[in-house]
Amino acid sequence: MPVSRPSSASDPDAVPVLAARAVARSFHVGESTVQALAGVDLEVGEGELVVIAGPSGSGKSTLLHLLGALDRPDAGQIRIEGRDVAALSEHGRTLLRRRRLGFVFQAFHLVPVLSAVENVELPLLVDGIPRRERRERAVTELERVGLAARLDHRPDRLSGGERQRVAVARALVHRPRAVLADEPTGNLDSDNALRVFDLLAELGAAAGTTIVISTHDPLLVDRSPRIVRLRDGRVESDLRTAGVPA
Ligand SMILES: Nc1ncnc2c1ncn2[C@@H]1O[C@H](COP(=O)(O)OP(=O)(O)OP(=O)(O)O)[C@@H](O)[C@H]1O
Ligand SMILES: [Mg+2]
Repeated sequence: MPVSRPSSASDPDAVPVLAARAVARSFHVGESTVQALAGVDLEVGEGELVVIAGPSGSGKSTLLHLLGALDRPDAGQIRIEGRDVAALSEHGRTLLRRRRLGFVFQAFHLVPVLSAVENVELPLLVDGIPRRERRERAVTELERVGLAARLDHRPDRLSGGERQRVAVARALVHRPRAVLADEPTGNLDSDNALRVFDLLAELGAAAGTTIVISTHDPLLVDRSPRIVRLRDGRVESDLRTAGVPA
């Protein structure tokens, strides 16, 4: 069953939280060129949950990196909350990523020498939130992902599923406008994969956060109210399922 969620995505006048227009990106390796994205148009609205599906090499990670201002297109335009990312300085892009976006990656990307709660505090630290408030918000976020009993554990003392739930808490703790999750369940068994997906969906819905998740996993694709399929760097289909308001 798709996860139903409130969505303003149906408001045609709303500025999309994330938008790609005619986006192309290629990579040069030695003599050869790989066209990773070959003209992608996509708009994702406030509070929407979108799964980006497609075979290996179809351009999912490349698209997520562009939508997250981690990379720049060769052609076309990326807009985040209506702002043209190309018009921002490097520093401006860094601030935008830190303040307005959250990221979850397949390989967790937690800081190994920090405890779970310290990892979750990091996005608040760079924003200059005072120590006590930082700790309170990080603890609350870890409680939401079911890790109240693991606050002081370092990542090497956590299971894969627990690590990824720490990463979910870290991605959401600063109340970003959108979270981009590239294959967040790729290293997890199916029970943990479902749990991480559902947490992203539920916590994102509760906070009105836009969530974009890339995955190969058909189980997760089936749970999404919107499925964008890529093939050879193009959008093959963009389907909204019955779970979402028309
Ligand atoms: N940094 C890079 N340098 C060279 N080629 C790259 C680079 N990043 C991606 N590519 C190529 O671009 C194409 C799209 O890659 P991308 O990582 O976006 O695919 P994907 O859909 O995420 O695949 P997977 O499901 O395996 O993660 C692939 O052919 C890949 O080899
Ligand atoms: Mg990928």
